[in-house]
Amino acid sequence: MSTNPGTKLAIVGAGSVGTSLAYAALIRGSASHVAIYDVNATKADAEVLDLAHGTQFAAASATVTGGGDITAVDGADVVVITAGAKQAPGQTRLDLAGTNVRILETLMPQLLQHAPDAVYVLVTNPCDVLTVAAQKISGLPAHRVFSSGTVLDTSRLRWLLAGRAGVALTSVHASMIGEHGDTEFPIWSGATIGPVPIRHWKSGGEEVFTPEYLAQAGREVTMAAYKVIAGKGATNYAIGLAGTRIVEALLRAENSVLPVSTVLNGQYGISGVALSLPSIVGHGGVSAVLDTPMDDGELTSLHHSADTLQKSLVALGV
Ligand code: 2OP
Repeated sequence: MSTNPGTKLAIVGAGSVGTSLAYAALIRGSASHVAIYDVNATKADAEVLDLAHGTQFAAASATVTGGGDITAVDGADVVVITAGAKQAPGQTRLDLAGTNVRILETLMPQLLQHAPDAVYVLVTNPCDVLTVAAQKISGLPAHRVFSSGTVLDTSRLRWLLAGRAGVALTSVHASMIGEHGDTEFPIWSGATIGPVPIRHWKSGGEEVFTPEYLAQAGREVTMAAYKVIAGKGATNYAIGLAGTRIVEALLRAENSVLPVSTVLNGQYGISGVALSLPSIVGHGGVSAVLDTPMDDGELTSLHHSADTLQKSLVALGV
């Protein structure tokens, strides 16, 4: 596997999410230079060293640097922000908003000084709320500051559906959209396996994806993070991989369609709120939010997500 030459990924936060993302990026060869910055210099230095020690077995020629000095992010092409308070068992993502917006108010201006040309990807939760805050603090255009949104939830959904259908994950075309949180939902009306609409998929002449199963699968995805957090205190590996996938779409100028969360500007009648919709991600950020067909129920769910996030933004004064 070769690295992506001349590309620098900076990760802010050396916690379990930031370091999982760095590890995934090294193994996948997502960037030729992976830098980690954390205010806890001792932790950051140790994580950098631990990752650097393994680079022989990762993608050739990838370098790992970083520590407790913000110059670690200097000249990055992509900055992924994972720093902040994380969900304790029983907390929702939105419960973290106040603390993490305040962190961003200090962090974002400093990051911009050191990586003025970077694309910024928010992973810290509540990522939709923080995307609006980061855009306002930075003044960057919406396409250059967005969040991982429901890319992870979509991966959780596809994993469930692929398992049930007995097909490869890459043959499942279905997305979770809306808030990366309790009001997210699947777009079943457009979901397919290969070219077959999911509701038409049969096994032995029997319908596989019944309305009951689809409702349960949507709930399972929405509750997935709670389940993992209850068992191990955090989610880290899957979000590390999902974040890395977004970084690759940016650094490889892929123009891949991913459900990232950007501040909307009139799409579906929603403005000033960030939520996830299938979007084109490539060089320089998000070049388009796709006008994805939805049925009436899905449109209602989308507006419910937007209203929930809007209330959170108002309560925070963002
Ligand atoms: C996740 O969905 C907690 O947002 C994190 O895994």
